[in-house]
Amino acid sequence: MTLGITITKFLLEEQRKYPGSTGNFTGLFSDLVTAAKVISREVNRAGLIDILGSTGYKNVQGEEVQKLDEFANRTIIQTMEHGGWLCSMASEECEDIIPIPDDYPRGRYLLLFDPLDGSSNIDVNVSVGTIFSILRCECTDKVSVKDFLKPGTEQVCAGYIVYGSSTMLVYTTGHGVHGFTLDPGVGEFLLSHENITIPERGKIYSINEGNSRYWYPGTARYIEHLKNGNSTYSARYVGSLVADFHRNLLKGGIFLYPADRKSKNGKLRLLYEANPLSFIVEQAGGMASTGEKRILDIVPEELHQRVPLIIGSKRDVQEAERFWKEG
Ligand code: AHG
Ligand code: MN
Ligand code: MN
Repeated sequence: MTLGITITKFLLEEQRKYPGSTGNFTGLFSDLVTAAKVISREVNRAGLIDILGSTGYKNVQGEEVQKLDEFANRTIIQTMEHGGWLCSMASEECEDIIPIPDDYPRGRYLLLFDPLDGSSNIDVNVSVGTIFSILRCECTDKVSVKDFLKPGTEQVCAGYIVYGSSTMLVYTTGHGVHGFTLDPGVGEFLLSHENITIPERGKIYSINEGNSRYWYPGTARYIEHLKNGNSTYSARYVGSLVADFHRNLLKGGIFLYPADRKSKNGKLRLLYEANPLSFIVEQAGGMASTGEKRILDIVPEELHQRVPLIIGSKRDVQEAERFWKEG
C-alpha cells in the first residue's frame, strides 16, 4: 500500500499520461470528491443532527425519500452545477434531467447518480453509498433525455463512495479500478487500493432470500446449487447495493437482484446503479449480466429503467447465467 498519494495527485498523474487532455475531467472529479466529503461528514453525524428519517414524500419510483437522500441529492447538484464541466445531470431522486442554470457555463460531460444508495439502512448505522456514472455529451443544442440513453460501454468514468467503517471512493476510467480511503484527520482521500481485481471465483452469495417465493426456477436452482454443491458458500446481504458490491469486489462473490415474478425487470436502476458497477466489475476482471446478456451492452430506453442484475466474480456469474438460461 502506498500511503500519502491524494486522489488529486493521482488524477493529475493519470491526466499527464494522456497528452491531449484538457483537465476538464480532473476538474469535474475534484468537485465530485468535495460533494463526497460533505455527504460523508453528514452521514457520520447522523443521529446528532436532524438528518434521520423520512421527508414524508415519495420519489419518482414510488419509494419513500429519506432526509439524507434529499441532502445528498442537493449537495451533489449544488457542488457540480457551477464548475462548467457538465452539460446536464440525472439523479435517482429527480424525475427529469437536471439542467445547468443559465448563468453557469456548460461543459461536455453528463453526470448520472444515485445520491444515497441503501436508504433503508441510514437510520440503523449500516453502510450506505453514492454511485455515479459519467458520459460524454455530444449534444450541440439543447440537451435532452435521449443524450443520457447510452449503453454502459460508453461511460468514460464510473465510481462509488461507500460510507462504511471508513469512507472509501472507488472508480474506473477504463484503466483499472482504484480505491481511496478518506483520512478524516487530513480531510483527503488517500490511495489505499491500487488496481483492484476481483477473485475469479468467490465464496459469498448476496441475494434477498425473502423474495424466494417469487423466484423463477433458474434462480431457485442456482441458489440451491450454491448451498448444496461441492464448495461452501456464505450468504451475505446488507441491503445496500454499494456495500454488498464493495465487499464482493474485494473478497470475491456474486450479488443477484434478478428478475422475478414480483419484479419483472428486477429492482435496480440501469443508468446509475447497474451500469457504473458493471463497468467497475469488468475493469476488475469480473462480470455483470442480466442472466441473459451483458449489462453494459443494453441500449437504455428510459432514464429510470430497471434491470435484473447478476454481478461479481467471473466464474460465479457465468455459472449463474447457465442456471438462468436452463431455468
Ligand atoms: P436506494 O436506497 O438507492 O433506493 O437503493 C436500494 C437498493 C439497493 O441499495 C439494495 O441492493 C436493494 O435496494 C435492496 O432491495 P431489497 O430491500 O428489495 O432487498
Ligand atoms: Mn440505490
Ligand atoms: Mn438512492
